[in-house]
Order: sequence, then C-alpha cells, then structure tokens
Amino acid sequence: MFNKIGVVGGGNIGGVLVQELFKRNLAKTVALMDVKEPDLAKGKCLDIAEGSPIIGADVKYDGGRDYDVLKGSEIVINTAGVPRTKRPDGTIPSREELLATNLKITDMVAEGIKKYCPKAIIISIANPLDAIVYRLYQQLKPPKQKLMGMAGALDSSRYRHFVAYEAGVSVENVEAMVLGGHGDTMVPVRSCCRVAGMPVEKFLDEEKLGAIETRTRKAGGEVVGLLGVGSAFVSPSWAALDMVEAIVFDKKKIIPSCVLLEGEYGIDGLFIGVPALLGKDGVEKIIEVDLTDDEKEALKKSAAAVQKTVDEVKAVA
Ligand code: APR
Repeated sequence: MFNKIGVVGGGNIGGVLVQELFKRNLAKTVALMDVKEPDLAKGKCLDIAEGSPIIGADVKYDGGRDYDVLKGSEIVINTAGVPRTKRPDGTIPSREELLATNLKITDMVAEGIKKYCPKAIIISIANPLDAIVYRLYQQLKPPKQKLMGMAGALDSSRYRHFVAYEAGVSVENVEAMVLGGHGDTMVPVRSCCRVAGMPVEKFLDEEKLGAIETRTRKAGGEVVGLLGVGSAFVSPSWAALDMVEAIVFDKKKIIPSCVLLEGEYGIDGLFIGVPALLGKDGVEKIIEVDLTDDEKEALKKSAAAVQKTVDEVKAVA
C-alpha cells in the first residue's frame, strides 16, 4: 500500500478512480483536485468516504480546488481536461481536436505537480493522450521511468473484449495488445493475439478479425456516439488502475503504456504506446515485440501521426 495517491480532475474518470482507490485500499490517503466550484473534488471525496465503512475501506482523503491537496503523493493520475463529446450534427470530434484546450489545462497541472509532488510517478489519461504526456515531459522533465500515459491498457482491453465476444470465449482467455498512438492509427497487434495460448486465427477468420481491429481503433468514438455527452470513463479508469496496481504491488506486469522511446522500435524522442514492464519504480523496462512487416509499417504510420500532434505542442511556448 502506498501512503498517498493523487488524482487531478474529479470528473467522470476521476470519480471512478477515487472510488476504486478506496475500494481496493491502494493508498492510506487518496487526494483529489479539481478546479470546479463550489468544491467538486471535496464533495466527491466526502461522498465516497461516507460510504467507506460499508465497504471496509480505511482510507483518508484530501480533496479540494488547490493543487496543494496533492502534497506528498507518490503516484499522480492526471485526468484534467475536456473529453470528446458528440456534436449537435452527430459527428464525433477527434481526440486531437481537444489539444488547444487541454494543453492549457495540462500546463496548470504540471505547475501543481512541480510545486507539490515533483517526485511522483505520473500516469496521464487526458487526451490527446500521447501529446499531453509529451507536454508533461516538456514541463516537468521527470526521469523517463516516472512518466507514462494510459492508453494501450484500455485499447488492448477493448480489443480483448471484442475478440472474446466474437469467438464466444471468456475474456480471461484472450491475450492481446494494441500499440502506437491513442488515435485512429493505433495498431492492434494480431500476431500477439492469443486465445488460451493459441493463435487467434484458429478461432476467427480474416474478415471477422479485420472488423474487430477496425472497431478497436474506433472504439472510443463508438462510446462517445452512444453516450451523447462525454466519453468513456469506467474502462479508462480500470485500465489506469491496472497500471497503478502494477506499481503499488511491484508486479513487474507488462502493460502497453505510452512511454518515452529512445531508439526502441526505431523511434526516438516520442511518447507512444509499447509494452512496458511496470513495477515500483514505474516504467522499469520497455519490451520490443517481434512485429510482422505490416505491423512495423502500421506502427511507423502511427508514430508519424503522434509526431504531427507533438509538433503542434512544441510550437506552443
Ligand atoms: N485542474 C484540475 N482539474 C481540472 C482542470 C485543472 N486545471 N481543468 C479542468 N479540470 C477538471 C474539470 O473540472 C472536470 O471535472 O477535469 C475534469 C474532467 O472531467 P470530465 O469532464 O468528466 O472528463 P473525463 O471523462 O473524466 O475525461 C477526462 O480524460 O479520457 C480523457 O478525453 C478525456 O481529456 C479527457 C480526460
């Protein structure tokens, strides 16, 4: 158990995160910071804490509108930022369209972290994911082990769910990975997809697999379209918690995460999704998967898309 885990942004994702951090007893104190008046963060914490005797969660909280509540956090999960929402004409914006707004918010978050918990391990969820993680890196310059984005954990879970559903097997039987940026160019890695240890092709034909991979790439938008307002929030929270638990329990668990590459996969200086071994020190190792030529090409394309958004970030002082 850690002493303190902080969450920035107490909206949909932040709310589920705090609930689960309590329920899973992952820290002695959970902090939640949100700018929303009158005091959304404190309100959410109080609501959850008042229910804590029922679930037997002996967890303290610090909630408020100032970043000082994060003081002493060993892990900070960043969810501050606007989500995608369906437009009145029914179209769905891309995650990249959130950049201008979320960049300003990220700069505030970075200031807060710098002031109150500069040594914390950071897991960022705000979109556009890879570019926002890059911004945090620019502003905070943490050791690269201590900064990561949550995207691959979610995209891989979506891929696993679709495979399990179509193959008619338990989700527990499906192992799968999605690499690359958290956008339409993400790369579901078919060559790594296994059903009970067997190649996925034994269970699903080419047509079904192609449809599943397309659906995986657009899965976030599918939920946005159905919700009407806002974007997915339960599955992203659970995915981030998988990363948190890997760190808190020093599990050495390999989870696709958005991490800084310095030559791995032929990519240099970019945060992008690849399998990372997570343990008490954060990103303890980057794993290089043997990809097929097509998958290598797809990852290259995805890196180019991430680079384009990162170039926009770099243009903002
Ligand atoms: N500091 C802290 N919190 C902030 C700040 C800030 N500077 N600016 C905005 N927030 C808060 C908002 O007040 C809001 O409560 O961030 C919260 C975001 O919550 P939601 O709007 O419910 O969004 P959510 O669904 O939780 O998604 C958060 O994660 O998946 C991504 O695309 C998603 O970028 C979005 C982020």
